[in-house]
Amino acid sequence: VALVLWGTDNLKSEGGPIAQALALMGTKPRFDSYGRLAGAELIDLQTLGRQRIDVVITLSGIFRDLLPLQIKLLAEAAYLAASADEPLDMNPVRRHALAYQAQHRCDLETASLRVFGNADGAYGANVGSLVDNAQWDAGDELAETYSRRKGFAYGRSGKPMQQGELLKSVLADVSLAYQNLESVELGVTTIDTYFDTLGGVSKAIQRAKGGSADVAPVYIGDQTRDTHGGGTVRTLTEQVALETRTRMLNPKWYEGMLKHGYEGVRQIEVHVTNTLGWSATTGQVQPWVYQQLSETFMLDPEMRDRLARLNPTASVRVANRLLEAYERNYWQPDEATLNALRRAGEELEDRLEGVYEGAGT
Ligand code: BEZ
Ligand code: MG
Repeated sequence: VALVLWGTDNLKSEGGPIAQALALMGTKPRFDSYGRLAGAELIDLQTLGRQRIDVVITLSGIFRDLLPLQIKLLAEAAYLAASADEPLDMNPVRRHALAYQAQHRCDLETASLRVFGNADGAYGANVGSLVDNAQWDAGDELAETYSRRKGFAYGRSGKPMQQGELLKSVLADVSLAYQNLESVELGVTTIDTYFDTLGGVSKAIQRAKGGSADVAPVYIGDQTRDTHGGGTVRTLTEQVALETRTRMLNPKWYEGMLKHGYEGVRQIEVHVTNTLGWSATTGQVQPWVYQQLSETFMLDPEMRDRLARLNPTASVRVANRLLEAYERNYWQPDEATLNALRRAGEELEDRLEGVYEGAGT
């Protein structure tokens, strides 16, 4: 399981995602005789009652800055799991670590590194800015960028070491990627950081597995409603669909945005771009999302006019983003829709350049 851990999310939830990672590995925090957190310990297999689960933990830069002791805790948990003298079919952490060790002739300490993040002082995976610029190619570029940025392993010493090969090897064994959603104010399409980190690792998993055929599903654990019962897990497809319906396609949401004028239109554009970011990194956005965004914001002349008056630059970007989504084959509009969208884009460009002579100007 590939887990994305953010710093603020762990502060808000008293370490919920850290606890999830420890539990998957069959480990728990160890406390000294004064009750102070002192490291990790194994839960024995009999008590655990299942096999351990291998995890690869990718940290945000903010997590790294805020929670250095917890990085060591997670690294120790992975090391203890890899070191446990247990049947290999019950302990994939050890199984994978021994296989890596045999292949690369390294020590177990290295082969059991499971906590990855940026180099010191660096933040983010840069996938967000590549998507924003629309210049990236459909091959390895996003996965390569992600892996270069997040390919630093943090061991029990807490010091990062560049371990790109190990990251790739661990990612090749991943069967799903997961992140919690901890804030009602933010969805996975509100800020680019979700697709930058969770989408980024998903893309890197796809590449590590050797191509597009074997796509690991992506899940979101929504912790925003039920704080006692473990939240609601949705597929990324479901989460994006839910956010599209409740935010972008919801008149209460977009009318609220438009009251903010220039910035409101920019927010609509940001959501469209972030949606494309999920297609780019996971391919798990349904085509109707782009169809309905096009109909709501671009193909309705009145709405298009409102957007263009409030923020012509962002309006053109919305049109171009939806066309980019078509060009990258994330949806397949019919001929009439495509032509209407192209005309809408051209009209918006003309307005931006001040040469538009259409109705009402
Ligand atoms: C963090 O707390 O780790 C975080 C917050 C916002 C965006 C990305 C990461
Ligand atoms: Mg950014």
